[in-house]
Amino acid sequence: MSVQGLKGFKDILPAEAATWQRIEATARALFHRYGFTEIRVPILEKTELFVRSIGEATDIVEKEMYTFEDRNGASITMRPEGTAPVLRAFIQHNLQLLQPIQRLYTIGPMFRHERPQKGRLRQFHQMSVEVLGTDQPMVDAELMAMAWQLLSELGLTVSLEINSLGCPECRPAYNQALLDFIGERNEKLCEDCQRRRTTNPLRVLDCKNEACREQYQGIPELPDHLCPACAAHFEEVRGLLALLEIPYRVNPFMVRGLDYYTRTTFELITADLGAQSAVGAGGRYDGLVGQLGGPKKMPGIGFAIGMERLVLLLEQAGAAEEEPEPDLFIAALGDEARQQAFRLMQLCRQSGLKTAMDPAGRSLKNQMKQAGKSRARFTFIVGEEELAQKAGILRDMASKEQQEISLAGEPAGWRDRIVPIIIR
Ligand code: HAM
Repeated sequence: MSVQGLKGFKDILPAEAATWQRIEATARALFHRYGFTEIRVPILEKTELFVRSIGEATDIVEKEMYTFEDRNGASITMRPEGTAPVLRAFIQHNLQLLQPIQRLYTIGPMFRHERPQKGRLRQFHQMSVEVLGTDQPMVDAELMAMAWQLLSELGLTVSLEINSLGCPECRPAYNQALLDFIGERNEKLCEDCQRRRTTNPLRVLDCKNEACREQYQGIPELPDHLCPACAAHFEEVRGLLALLEIPYRVNPFMVRGLDYYTRTTFELITADLGAQSAVGAGGRYDGLVGQLGGPKKMPGIGFAIGMERLVLLLEQAGAAEEEPEPDLFIAALGDEARQQAFRLMQLCRQSGLKTAMDPAGRSLKNQMKQAGKSRARFTFIVGEEELAQKAGILRDMASKEQQEISLAGEPAGWRDRIVPIIIR
């Protein structure tokens, strides 16, 4: 039996490649317009980096990381997300010295040992962006506008949900309000929620258990417990979103699966992917750089978009990209003609045409069949007879129109006569 790939690890097959490339090209061009530059960081990091940033009591760190010992006995983890590695690199290379506000993006695979299902993989790809060095609400709104624009440039409609998780000033009072509320219901809660009381009470807001959800009717809502500074920040973000005409909904129960967030958090939601409703998500993490050993006052904000989910949405919308068809198929017969055609193919490719020929030099009928199958726009036919008469035939495959092309001189001259007709 042949060896199969790992569960949750997916091959991106040639038929999907063009869609992936379009997504990536659209994102890169857009990130560039918003002033972002690329950073590429390793897939492997010290485990400690993720424990210290994502948080010990999160599902990711508790259950989902690909963690192992390397040959020297060091604990290594395959990155489950991109923010911590980008911040690690930012701190390690003192990037804030180059520019007070850094705008970085990275694209690549992430790894989480989750239960695979539609839109949920163990190796998946994110396009993620981070802005470091400012806590201005304008940047929060700008990032949401950028995510929104990316999806609309790809032809997708999603909804934006936002929340504010407050800061170390206001979170303890909210946590206490939550503890008081759930304490009264403790017996009726699931085991996870009972544990969350001591690990991270905020997580109970995210519980999917029906019985818990019923108990949580009337639970205190975060936006009502923000300190004046966080409330003003949130208010300003909302005002700026309205100014940019970005529709959004406040979801007071959005807590996110990573512990580093402060203040603004957001998710881009779709109803078209079943259980996996988040196409992208992010938020502010004003304490994280300091927590990882970098400068203490270095606020940051970012988001990541899941590429597999975008591909699924585009495929479902019938908007998957197809590989562009060849501009030209050269059908050549006979040794001499095939040699010349081979030279012509190279010259046409150098002139920018996607050009193909049959290396086996089968019958003309067979080659024309191949040209049709490849959906080539034009076919150029050159056989011994054409060589003798110094005139090849250029056929427009859609209109079936044919014209003679002089084969006088070298293939470079043939190319000069063919290319303008095809490029026109
Ligand atoms: P996240 O919400 O864990 O955030 O992931 C962001 C996006 O990655 C999700 O909305 C989803 O589209 C995609 N994603 C996550 N897990 C999977 C999976 N198992 N299979 C397929 N797609 C998945 C973060 O990772 C943060 N680092 C985002 C961020 C950047 N926050 C600030 N800066």
